[in-house]
Amino acid sequence: MSETELIKVPQHLAIIMDGNGRWAESKNLPRLEGHRLGSESVEKVVEACSEWGIKELTLYAFSQENWQRPTEEVASLMDLLKIFLAKKRQKLLKNKISLKAIGRLELLPESVLRELTQTIEATRHGDRMILTLALSYGSRQEIIDTANQGIRHAMSLNDPAWRFDEKTFDEWLYTEGRTAPDLLIRTSGERRISNFLLWQLAYAELYFTETLWPDFDEKELKKALLEYQSRERRFGKTPEQIQKGQSS
Ligand code: IPE
Ligand code: IPE
Ligand code: MG
Repeated sequence: MSETELIKVPQHLAIIMDGNGRWAESKNLPRLEGHRLGSESVEKVVEACSEWGIKELTLYAFSQENWQRPTEEVASLMDLLKIFLAKKRQKLLKNKISLKAIGRLELLPESVLRELTQTIEATRHGDRMILTLALSYGSRQEIIDTANQGIRHAMSLNDPAWRFDEKTFDEWLYTEGRTAPDLLIRTSGERRISNFLLWQLAYAELYFTETLWPDFDEKELKKALLEYQSRERRFGKTPEQIQKGQSS
């Protein structure tokens, strides 16, 4: 095997796409230009992931906390999202990629929600890759929503002894029990999780790069994937146990 060959890709990749603002600033451009270029990186990365056999890609596109940004910036991000959804619908369909969304979607402007729902609906049979956009997403909110759903469930059963188990809790999250991310990439040099998939990332490998999101392309992605395949995931076991398991 050559050291630059991809032989083991993560089944599920999650990305915190960060650094659009700094990219624009470094070029004396308005922040919006950074976001616009950032959406081109999204297109490249989605294509590369589906070509390399990644089964799930989850992108942090807009956090619950991002609502606090200046009104004009939020409005341009929403416009970009709407354009992306309308423009990419046919391509996703053609490439058998099914779109999903997680987050407090009811807070999105109606026109964005409409495009989103249409694209989710149109692409729902795609079986090559699931592309999930985290929009108006906050992981603590997701956990609270799930816990409250459990309380309502116990009350409706009139059963104070009803308990969650790990599997049911996982299935009742916005991610509905789908596979957890194997690898998390964050661009732009920040080393934090920023309220993203706190439950689901419990055993993910973390990869941080200084590259700003508008500069992130297939080459950068490959670098992250090569690093991932060199890691040994132990899930609490010893290296000996892992190596034995691989050879049997
Ligand atoms: C990521 O880039 C995009 C969103 C959060 C929507 P930023 O806009 O956070 O860029 P920086 O961190 O200011 O450079
Ligand atoms: C996280 O990026 C959210 C997205 C990438 C959508 P931010 O740039 O908003 O994160 P913080 O606030 O710097 O942690
Ligand atoms: Mg940022």
